[in-house]
Amino acid sequence: MAVTDHVHGTTQSPAAANDGVSKDIPCDDVINLDNGDPTMYESFWKKMGDKCTVVIKGYESLSYFSNPKNPCWFLEPKLEESIKILHGAVGNAVTDGYTIVVGTGSSHLLNAMPYALASNPQPNHQINVVSAPPYYSAYPEITDMVKSRLYKWAGNAHEFDKDEPYIELVTSPNNPNGAIQRSMVNRDGGILVYDLAYYWPQYTPITSSLEFDIMLFTASKCTGHAGSRIGWALVKDKEVAKKMIKFMEVTTIGVSKESQLRVAKILQVVADGCKHFRSPKGDNFFETGQSMMKKRWNILRETVEKHQMFSIQNYPLQHCNYTGDVTQAHPAFAWMKCKEGIEDCEKLFRDHKILARSGKKFGSDPGFVRVSMVGREEEFNLFIDRLSKIQSFNNGDGNLD
Ligand SMILES: Cc1ncc(COP(=O)(O)O)c(C=O)c1O
Repeated sequence: MAVTDHVHGTTQSPAAANDGVSKDIPCDDVINLDNGDPTMYESFWKKMGDKCTVVIKGYESLSYFSNPKNPCWFLEPKLEESIKILHGAVGNAVTDGYTIVVGTGSSHLLNAMPYALASNPQPNHQINVVSAPPYYSAYPEITDMVKSRLYKWAGNAHEFDKDEPYIELVTSPNNPNGAIQRSMVNRDGGILVYDLAYYWPQYTPITSSLEFDIMLFTASKCTGHAGSRIGWALVKDKEVAKKMIKFMEVTTIGVSKESQLRVAKILQVVADGCKHFRSPKGDNFFETGQSMMKKRWNILRETVEKHQMFSIQNYPLQHCNYTGDVTQAHPAFAWMKCKEGIEDCEKLFRDHKILARSGKKFGSDPGFVRVSMVGREEEFNLFIDRLSKIQSFNNGDGNLD
């Protein structure tokens, strides 16, 4: 059976879908940096040992219901509490006055959201869903998947000039290019949805505690627990939240309690550890994550600068309210551009057994390619090795073996 998903963007066997990468990758094997599978964090979580172990007995968590008093009746109280504590500790988003809606990954919430926002459309008018390129490659696919009569993908936010209602998806920091984004359309009749999957200190300086009407987060990118499939939305308008909850009810009758309890524990451990810096215990997840990302970005920059065959983004120095330091962003993806004459950067990489995602999939140019920076150490090192060889070969410095 083949598995296609918008995280991976390619059709793969189930074994390859989770990378299927062994610890020791033979040199001539394909490296999959097409998806943002956050396996980089395994080493941190191994060090934490049993701290996050959750035991669920056979008689526990049988009911569909988690908290009948909460509008989001399937949200586990422990998860709700951990989410609030973590946002408070990091200072990246306000939670007071918001309804928390939990989903099976933020992908589930991205499905619920246009339904909730377009539930009262004008007859025969689908609400337009737009985003500014380069946008997260799953947005068009998610929006048009069920060919809804309520909403439709309307593409490039820069070019949207219809006098019609619209939803604008704003990803900040952006996937694929790590840039801090704000709305592009800026017109009446628009509803903004902020996808803040990467607004965590390991990827970007935290410059303010955000208070947008709808904000999406995911454990996948926050702590690396993509396999638990937990995302959450902070929603200001109670009616919009209710409709999202209705969508969850009808599509899946809630969200796995086991996953919620596991992620509640993980977030609690992260929140406890993130209060102190440079502790000998090394239990500050964000501090460790940031130093891993910084190291990788430094290596990538050094490699790219040697030959000038590729260019990568630069990010401004900013004060991070969480660490108190002035730092650059170290995004989860490198958005690389091939210089001079190479039109299809994805193909160039594929020819050298590096799978990465073409700029075309992000509504952008095939001269760009997106490379995951959050895979395992061995994959990253192999990538740097092959990138150096591609560059040397192109410069005529040596053989490509
Ligand atoms: C910007 C963005 N939003 C949402 C998601 C979906 O994350 P998940 O469904 O794993 O929570 C991703 C995954 O890569 C992403 O990059």
